[in-house]
Amino acid sequence: MKKMKFAVIGYGGMGGWHAERLQKSDVAELAGVYDIRRERNELAESRGIHAYASLKELLADASVDAVTIAVPNDAHEEIAVRALNAGKHVICEKPVTLTLDSLDRMIDAANANGRVFTTHQNRRWDVDYLAMKQVRDSGMLGRVLNIESRIHGSRGIPSDWRGEASHGGGMLYDWGIHLIDQMLMIFGFENLESVFCVCDHITNREVDDGFRLDLNFRGGERATVEVGTYNFIAMPRFYLRAEKGTVLLPDWREEATAVRCTHWHESEVLPVQTAAGLTKTMAPRDGVTTETFRIPRPASDVHDFYRNFVKAARGEAEQLVTHAQMRTDLKAILAAFESAETGKTVSLT
Ligand SMILES: NC(=O)c1ccc[n+]([C@@H]2O[C@H](COP(=O)([O-])OP(=O)(O)OC[C@H]3O[C@@H](n4cnc5c(N)ncnc54)[C@H](O)[C@@H]3O)[C@@H](O)[C@H]2O)c1
Repeated sequence: MKKMKFAVIGYGGMGGWHAERLQKSDVAELAGVYDIRRERNELAESRGIHAYASLKELLADASVDAVTIAVPNDAHEEIAVRALNAGKHVICEKPVTLTLDSLDRMIDAANANGRVFTTHQNRRWDVDYLAMKQVRDSGMLGRVLNIESRIHGSRGIPSDWRGEASHGGGMLYDWGIHLIDQMLMIFGFENLESVFCVCDHITNREVDDGFRLDLNFRGGERATVEVGTYNFIAMPRFYLRAEKGTVLLPDWREEATAVRCTHWHESEVLPVQTAAGLTKTMAPRDGVTTETFRIPRPASDVHDFYRNFVKAARGEAEQLVTHAQMRTDLKAILAAFESAETGKTVSLT
């Protein structure tokens, strides 16, 4: 089948990633790129990639079917709406935009022009998250009670536009949108009831440089999402508690370990000595009443995002990242900001 022709707008870190993927794609090809900075266009040309002289020229190229937008977050809307009005299908980097009104203008432009418009939630293909989703979907440990999802670094936030509020900087917009989307994929977008969030401002006053966000779902399931950029010792990537056991995934490069409780009652519990006394409650189990096993890494190929998009643009599939999901992801982020500001739980129902 003929490959779909894409142009990439914004040839920075992520634009470079998209361009490279598109050059190797089995469903798409790269027509060229456009960046507002001349040196980035020159770099593209030095790599044998066509660089358009302007956005206008790119959008006027009738051979381009679709664009991928990888510019700072505050510039997404204007470019997406222009591209949709020019008849292009649009993939917009995350976070799709900064406010719900802005997102609705983008969705309206997509609907008015009959074009596919979605956002690049590529971390739906992360195997660490997929392992947690598999635990809940399979029911292997019974009902899931809560999942804690963390990423910890120690270098603050990048010293580019990500540190500036006017560009939509900060970790909630940057990493939060990925980790929230993952939890909504696991527990159900329609089930999110409320959020409570505390933001860090350790290395940056203007935007959050980390946060801890609790997501409360209908039926009592809970998720905690935490991003830290001032953590010189990282906590585990995932910790999951379920009715019948616990899962720990120490690091995204590793496999998850599950411990299932096979017998609730133990014949004998040996107390452990702590600094100021004995405890049976907190004594570890002896291994006879539990079984330990690995959760195999699910198979995953992030290029399935593009494969689905191309099919959706041809009317052969539904887009995987839907407009309704994009709205809920953004609503959760905005509610998190409100909670951090007010110190209160914010309801989404
Ligand atoms: N999905 C992911 O895993 C992932 C990872 C990193 C970044 N991103 C997203 O990708 C986007 C870009 O991030 P980045 O890390 O590549 O930033 P970056 O600063 O490395 O690159 C942005 C590029 O856009 C260019 N640019 C700015 N305004 C422009 C305009 N109006 N027209 C054309 N070019 C313009 C800049 O010159 C720069 O080269 C952001 O929305 C970010 O959140 C997504």
